[in-house]
Amino acid sequence: MISLGGITPKDFLRDYWQQRPLLVRNALPGFSGLLTRDELTELACHEDAQSRLVIQRNSKWHLKHGPLNSNDLAKLPKNQWALLVQDVNHFLPSARDLLSRFRFIPHARLDDLMVSYAPKGGGIGPHFDSYDVFLLQGMGSRRWQISAQQDDRFIADAPLKILKNFLPEQEWVLKPGDMLYLPPKYAHNGIAEDDCMTYSIGFRALSHDEVMTQFLVYLQDKVETEGRYSDPGLQLQSHPSKISAAMQAQVHSILKKISWSHDDIENFLGIYLSEPKTHVFFEQPMEPLAPCAFLQQIKKNGVQLGLKSRMLSSHNKFFINGEVCRVSSNTFKMLIELADNQEFFPSPHIDEETEKILYQWYVSGYIVSKNQAM
Ligand code: SIN
Ligand code: CO
Repeated sequence: MISLGGITPKDFLRDYWQQRPLLVRNALPGFSGLLTRDELTELACHEDAQSRLVIQRNSKWHLKHGPLNSNDLAKLPKNQWALLVQDVNHFLPSARDLLSRFRFIPHARLDDLMVSYAPKGGGIGPHFDSYDVFLLQGMGSRRWQISAQQDDRFIADAPLKILKNFLPEQEWVLKPGDMLYLPPKYAHNGIAEDDCMTYSIGFRALSHDEVMTQFLVYLQDKVETEGRYSDPGLQLQSHPSKISAAMQAQVHSILKKISWSHDDIENFLGIYLSEPKTHVFFEQPMEPLAPCAFLQQIKKNGVQLGLKSRMLSSHNKFFINGEVCRVSSNTFKMLIELADNQEFFPSPHIDEETEKILYQWYVSGYIVSKNQAM
């Protein structure tokens, strides 16, 4: 686990999470990063990665979304720019291992690991984020200024939401391994003191608007009803353009039939929260092993979630990459290990149901045998 500076996860959740910032010196002793600047740049040019290049020129902010190309990188100023890459955990096993140190927060709340690089003076300007974030310093040092200010007015016509009147209340220089936790909507500004890389462990929280609209999308596939609008006693209308009260009442009673159960809420949450982002695709094995060879291999080496897979659980159910899988309580007891820890070492005697599910997920490209590169 990551060190929270002598605070237990339970106390952190009670006293800091979603409430106040926490600076932890030496949260991860010896940490200096997971990838080099060149490796990050290479990732930013990758089609599957989501990246942004932020440049400040003559006090004007410029933003370019990736994938970047060598041209973008060739004409960078000496300083005052920053490169940010999302979902680095989809590419590096070490990035997923880093995220696993934050398991005191449920997987359903986790978003991704974003890595940024900035030369001296670089950053993305003072801003708010809507989500909780742990900012872990990798290579170099970064000055973080923070403020609990309520003034959330942004600079007009900037391509990023940069605060117009940022009034820092506290600041620290973070060295490799230091970490700053910020709750949502806490103003902050990170300025590189030298060549610097920051690792942002970011969380997600659905907006109410997203919950409602996405739940309606989910329900759309579930609502099935018979019947059709009918009006055998139709009354003559003096205004044919009028939508009559009788028509409205009939539609009202049709709509009242829309209902949902606790099961629907559980399934909606599991499906939606485990659904891959739109740019994510799973690679199925080109020449899949036969079921018995696969099972033999995983009994020997163990099995791991693919780096891009998201797996959540609820009572006797798993949700993997937007799919629901209802299981027996025996299978649940086994596979919960995979959902919680992203790896599972099957006993030589696993039951047929668990074997079948694991094989299906292997063929879909959701899981891999532990010794296999992902
Ligand atoms: C950065 O790493 O440059 C920015 C991270 C943040 O402010 O959320
Ligand atoms: Co931020």
